[in-house]
Amino acid sequence: MYNLLKGKRGIITGALDQNSIAWKVAEKAHEQGAKFVLTNAPIAMRMGQINELAEKTGSEIIPADATNVDDIANLYEKAQEVLGGKIDFVLHSIGMSVNIRKKISYTESNYDYFMKGIDVSAMSLHKMLSVAKKMDVINEGGSVVALTYMAAQRTYPFYTDMADIKAMLESIARSFGYHYGVEKKVRINTVSQSPTKTTAGTGIKGFDAFYDYADSIAPLGNADAESCADYCITLFSDLTRMVTMQNLFHDGGYSSTGVSAEVMEKFSTEE
Ligand code: NAI
Repeated sequence: MYNLLKGKRGIITGALDQNSIAWKVAEKAHEQGAKFVLTNAPIAMRMGQINELAEKTGSEIIPADATNVDDIANLYEKAQEVLGGKIDFVLHSIGMSVNIRKKISYTESNYDYFMKGIDVSAMSLHKMLSVAKKMDVINEGGSVVALTYMAAQRTYPFYTDMADIKAMLESIARSFGYHYGVEKKVRINTVSQSPTKTTAGTGIKGFDAFYDYADSIAPLGNADAESCADYCITLFSDLTRMVTMQNLFHDGGYSSTGVSAEVMEKFSTEE
């Protein structure tokens, strides 16, 4: 392969099972010569198959709840010990909405659940960045990528409170990207990914129908988890060293397409 991440040290959150986007990122980062630690919430670890991934990629697992700043500080301390130095890349691949899980509609949102969703899925990025900056964990030129979805810009009714939460996540990437960029040249971007068949994705009501719809709009079709991982790898590499504070669409062209001939066909009454 290209050894794009040779000599780099990373932290990868969110690998729950083989379908997770983070799982594919870990596999690709390993292929490209990176050393990294895996982390997930302690509860997810009991359910997940993360040990298999750790073995396969020769990496250690450090449990951390991304809403807990003490857990995050411990994660950074241990990661630097295990990897033998400061960190070059971080993947934030964490998302959960209790309102979605409980199939509560947007207008009826439960606010305790809403707050939980914000804490887990958006504020966790701020916490991870803030603790990293305080502890000076990330090397100059380091790269942080968080995963997001286009409902931050356009309304998708089924995405309920996660739409607002992703908008916040993208804003944190921009705002923190300024400060961390000025101080340490650390880059922060969000990748706005196509609908993808993962535990978080398929938990959304109507996911399958929407997946097919998006696939028939996007000129290249939906981007899968593996290609998303490839894109993340380029963002961790030095080849994108001047890219920061961006929300980058990785969606097969979906976000730039108004309508496709395939979808028009379905509504056509012409002979
Ligand atoms: P996934 O369910 O495999 O990953 C979500 C991860 O978040 C899990 O590993 C889970 O354990 C972790 N997590 C939840 N609460 C946590 C906490 N308190 N602390 C630490 N980790 C916690 O699903 P997927 O799809 O790989 O999700 C990864 C990211 O990609 C999420 O941000 C998601 O919103 C985003 N995304 C997913 C799309 C999809 O259609 N699947 C589309 C666009 C973005």
